Formats: sequence, structure tokens, C-alpha cells
Amino acid sequence: MAADAAMVSLFKAELELCKVGPGQTMAVLSEGEVRADYAQAFLTAGQQLGATTFHINLPPKLQFGGFAGNMGKTSLAGNRPAIEALKGADIVIDLMFLLFSEEQLEITNSGTRMLLVLEPVEVLTRMFPNAELRRRVEVGASLLKNGKVMRITSPHGTDVTYRLGAYPVMTEYGFTDSPGRWDHWPSGFMFTGAHDDGVNGQVVMGPGDIICAFRRYVESPVKFTIEKGYVTNVEGTGLEASLIRNYMKSFNDKRAYAISHIGWGLNDRADWHHMAVADPQKEIGMDALAYYGNVLFSTGPNSELGGTNDTPCHLDMPLRGCTLTLDGELIVKDGEVVPKELRAPGR
Ligand code: FE2
Repeated sequence: MAADAAMVSLFKAELELCKVGPGQTMAVLSEGEVRADYAQAFLTAGQQLGATTFHINLPPKLQFGGFAGNMGKTSLAGNRPAIEALKGADIVIDLMFLLFSEEQLEITNSGTRMLLVLEPVEVLTRMFPNAELRRRVEVGASLLKNGKVMRITSPHGTDVTYRLGAYPVMTEYGFTDSPGRWDHWPSGFMFTGAHDDGVNGQVVMGPGDIICAFRRYVESPVKFTIEKGYVTNVEGTGLEASLIRNYMKSFNDKRAYAISHIGWGLNDRADWHHMAVADPQKEIGMDALAYYGNVLFSTGPNSELGGTNDTPCHLDMPLRGCTLTLDGELIVKDGEVVPKELRAPGR
């Protein structure tokens, strides 16, 4: 199969940001026939940049878990020769979604960097990263790293505090050029986790806020009561509250109610309306996660941050119009990013 020229040129620009070139080995990891066109285009792009390239293609999983469930259980599990080959590369292009798996951790812990690529070309192009986005995300990360108490409020009634400092800060700016570092193209946000018992208050989702796992915009308010790091009550008379209650309960696991990562979005080219038109088979919905000035509230696992909770019940819930402070300093006010060094050009 000949690779599409426009796609090759787009992927080449991305691989250049990832410093793929002569002396580097790039592995492409795919599953079944999914994104076979991306795999070919990445191999061609890597080759044109002078890298040594290879492709590992795994058989598809027997049961499809989707993005909302069975996270972390991949068809790479137990395939020792494939894992070792990927550890031997400088960079792995993950087209199959290894996130939250033990295999991903083993590969990145060996020093191999990894780039996840799932979204359609239109999204990859529109939210294409650059050094300026990286700079702003890294500034955000240093603010998060020094922060002790994060407080989030909103006109819908959110008022919650996160006691920070127990977990590392992760950055996602859409490319990766340093050993062992994972990223997802496209992105544009940073996050951390609170102390396991360090989240208290309430989060109220209002109309237009997004429940990523269900690909839904909230229509009626959903109120989460949070005590010592766990959701203790989900109130709301609308369908969304009922869906969330049912979903969390279905895992029959108290860890499903834990509070997961927290942070805010910095990608000014992300569109809030995109989730309404996104193809569920082809994309996660990075627009909602990276949206400029959002607050990304989430529940479930913290294994990504080095914690012990690896529940597959994960809800990403981007909120609009919030105010977020770190130790009293305004970072986001009513959905607008405040510190000058964090603001996108022209914002
Ligand atoms: Fe998440």
C-alpha cells in the first residue's frame, strides 16, 4: 500500500518535532487493520527522515472494550518478543492505545519514548503542536508542581479543593523528544493528582460540560459530593446523573469512586463543539480535554501518575467557565487563562 503524500508530510512534521532522524529507531505499533494507513505513512515519514523503522502489527483483541471500558488490557499483554522489540526502539508510535497498561509502563521505563496517535487527520492538523504550546504547558506544569492547594469554583456551584504534592505533574503538548517520555498528539494540557485523601467539596457539572466516556454534553446539572478523595454521592435528576451512577456502580469496586487527575487546558485551537461531531470509532475527543481554559475533572485510576489505583472505571469530565486558583493565585478565571506567560498569543 502506497502511503498518502499529504499524510506523510503531516507525519514528517510531527516526527521532526519528536527529533526522529538518522541514528534513531522508530517502531510503529498497530492492531489488526485499524489505522493501517497511518502505519504506512509513519514508516515512510520516518524513513524519509533517515531513521531506522519497523512495524509491529498485532492481531485484534477478541473483545472490543472501547474507550470507556477495559482500559489497560491490551493485546500486547504477554507478547514478550514484541515488548522487547519495542523497548529496543528510541520511539514507539502507538496506533492501538496502550494507555494505562503495564506494557506501556515497561516500555517507557526502559527509556523508549512513546507517542499516541489515534485522532483523524483533520484533528491532527487543526491542533498541530508547536514549541510555543510546549512552552506554555511547561510553565503550567511548573505552577502545578509548586502548588499546594488547588481550589476550583464555578457559577454552577462547584467548590472543591485538591491538596497537591503527592504525585508528579504530567505534561501533554503533542510531541515527545526526550527518553522515556509519553505524549499524545494532539494535546495541550497538564495535570497532577491530589493526595489520595486530599480532595474535598463538590463539583457541579452544568449544561454544556462534557462526559467524555459517554460522548455527551450535560443537559441537567450533575452534583458530585467528594469527601477525602472519593465521590460519596452523585445527585441530579437528569439522564446524565443516572448514567454516571449506573456506570460507576457497574464496576462493583470502591476504587471506581476515587478522584483521578486534575488540571486545565491550554490549546487555543481546540473546539468545544467538536465532541458533537466526533466519530466514536476514530477518536477520543482531544478537543474537549485540551480546550483552552477548561478544567479537566476526572474520576477513577491514578496508576498513570504512579498511584496504586488501576480501576478501569475512568471518567474524564471537562468543565467550562470555572475559576481555578493555586494557593490563592488566579490561574483560570471564568474559563479564561489569567497568567500572561500561560496565555495563547492573541488571548
Ligand atoms: Fe483521563
